[in-house]
Amino acid sequence: MTSYPPSKTHKRLYIQEVVTRDGFQAESSFIPTEQKIALINRLSHAGYAKIEVSSFTSPKAIPMLADAEAVMKGIERVPGVEYTVLIPNLKGAERAISVGVDEFNLVMSVSEAHNRANLKMAREDSFAALSSVIVLAHSNKIPTNISLSTSFGCPMSGITSLDDLMYWIDRFAAVGVRGVTICDTTGMANPAQVQKVCEVAQSKYPDLQWTLHFHNTRGMGLANALAAVNSGIDRFDSSLGGLGGCPYAPGATGNICTEEMVHMFDLMGFDTQIDIDALLACSKDLQSLIGRTLPSQLLMAGKVDKLYAAPCQP
Ligand code: COA
Ligand code: ZN
Repeated sequence: MTSYPPSKTHKRLYIQEVVTRDGFQAESSFIPTEQKIALINRLSHAGYAKIEVSSFTSPKAIPMLADAEAVMKGIERVPGVEYTVLIPNLKGAERAISVGVDEFNLVMSVSEAHNRANLKMAREDSFAALSSVIVLAHSNKIPTNISLSTSFGCPMSGITSLDDLMYWIDRFAAVGVRGVTICDTTGMANPAQVQKVCEVAQSKYPDLQWTLHFHNTRGMGLANALAAVNSGIDRFDSSLGGLGGCPYAPGATGNICTEEMVHMFDLMGFDTQIDIDALLACSKDLQSLIGRTLPSQLLMAGKVDKLYAAPCQP
């Protein structure tokens, strides 16, 4: 697609797909393993920097992703794409090492209430457990990323302060993570807040790999992604069709929709390296797979260069 106005920068943006983890974890019926593998294989050829394949959580907590080993073993590993997985504890890390992953995406919440709901423990206990996972990862030469849930707000304890967020970023930076994902788990962030958070975080740790992870729960998702880009962020999580949601956060709904975000950034002249037509085809098939309409407005309306026949004149 041609951008307007024509871009002079063509800044590279790194797009990370989370539909088979954040998207599938909250589904009510189990998606067969071979369907998950087939979708990931198609997405692997669409230009992503990273794909979050699954999570090595307790199958009792997240039954939809109980087949994480089989999915990891079954997918094609396309060169240039990093295959990451969500890891909540040491047991999950050991399972992931047994099948080989490119990154551990560790998870804990900035909000104490959400951490207890999601991970059944206090933040300090999560931090201690994840510190052991980071030691294990380093001894296996696996890079680590920490996804900090409820970084902007929590449905149980309200808006997250920048000080609280920076406190946990400091702790994880000190134990040697490669990257930090700042997650708006239930769509509570606004663009001004995003801009401030991104500026402070990047200026304190310019060498960390920063990712922003937004949900569109209150319709601010793409506005927040734009605020992040304007603050220098170049890496985003997003979900095909806008599927997603945290089973442990009241009112949580889908992530920002990958094809909508890519369509916007492509039109603005950014270099996403994503084949948008391939995404739209995958998103359409995903609707059939889950048996309901996805929140993707782009899937409904088509790209801006789609032309319609003029209505008949009376
Ligand atoms: N993989 C497989 N099984 C696991 C596991 C893992 N990573 N972690 C724990 N288990 C098993 C234990 O072996 C135990 O099994 P048993 O009952 O057969 O003995 C059982 O789960 C309970 O173990 P426990 O250590 O007491 O864990 P818990 O019940 O306190 O659960 C978590 C802690 C973090 C593992 C669990 O809450 C979880 O996986 N949550 C999912 C978080 C998530 O993905 N949220 C959405 C994304 S943000
Ligand atoms: Zn999420």
